[in-house]
Amino acid sequence: MSIVEIKNVSHTFSKGTGSEMTKTQAVCNANLEVKRDEFLVMLGPSGCGKTTLLRLIDGLIKPTEGEILVEGKPVTGPGFDRAVVFQSINLLPWRTTFDNVVLGLEIKGTPNEEMRSTAQKYIDMVGLSGFENHYPHELSGGMQQRVGIARALSVNPKILLMDEPFGYLDALTRMSLQMELLDIWSKQKKTIIFITHDLDESIFLGDRVVLMSCRPGRITDTFPIDLPRPRPGHDIRNTAQFQSIRAKIWDKLKEELQNV
Ligand SMILES: Nc1ncnc2c1ncn2[C@@H]1O[C@H](COP(=O)(O)OP(=O)(O)OP(=O)(O)O)[C@@H](O)[C@H]1O
Ligand SMILES: [Mg+2]
Repeated sequence: MSIVEIKNVSHTFSKGTGSEMTKTQAVCNANLEVKRDEFLVMLGPSGCGKTTLLRLIDGLIKPTEGEILVEGKPVTGPGFDRAVVFQSINLLPWRTTFDNVVLGLEIKGTPNEEMRSTAQKYIDMVGLSGFENHYPHELSGGMQQRVGIARALSVNPKILLMDEPFGYLDALTRMSLQMELLDIWSKQKKTIIFITHDLDESIFLGDRVVLMSCRPGRITDTFPIDLPRPRPGHDIRNTAQFQSIRAKIWDKLKEELQNV
């Protein structure tokens, strides 16, 4: 059964008024169904509407056309069934790791004791035990990303929306967080919609890779990734199966990049 249904969704941003008004169509007639517990990856060049589509799913903005359903109900705004890990690390600099993680639970109105134990559980899960009292500037970029992930997980959302969460990280940290995320996903069983413009990352993580194209942003292709689960490790990138999937997606992506 589909947990998210995107039906004929378009989104146009308008800026200015009257004859000065400019319009940008960020998403054009997107149709997509995401299955419960699926790890879906959206892949596409910069500016093709990936973040816009994610914000539409979260309900931060409303589609100018079409509709989005979550568990059969139209999205009217953000809710605790969805949590976002943003493209830019989005921590409050004056709050410690613990207090940043607890933020979503505070908003949710979780009782104090439960709030403390839940936040600690997710801090431990993302490997930040011992750093509870550190401020963001005292953490590395990878650790800050983990705080963002722990914060999103702690409200126990059914759907985790991740917008290039590893985009600013070095290759090694990125690879280790990819493994950690797969481990968390297999234990927690959540639906993940993950955005990236990194082809290898999309194949390594996803059950399915959805390719988006630019101007206007459209969903052009969907590729099932039939690599084994759990993924045995990064060595899988060297297998013939991985490389053949990579070649197939790259053929399409290459056409897109020529149009950017
Ligand atoms: N708030 C906004 N107001 C006006 N235009 C916007 C706004 N947000 C995005 N856009 C436009 O919509 C298009 C898609 O932007 P979006 O951020 O969704 O792309 P993206 O695929 O996430 O890119 P990137 O990979 O660089 O993050 C771009 O042309 C952008 O200029
Ligand atoms: Mg983006």
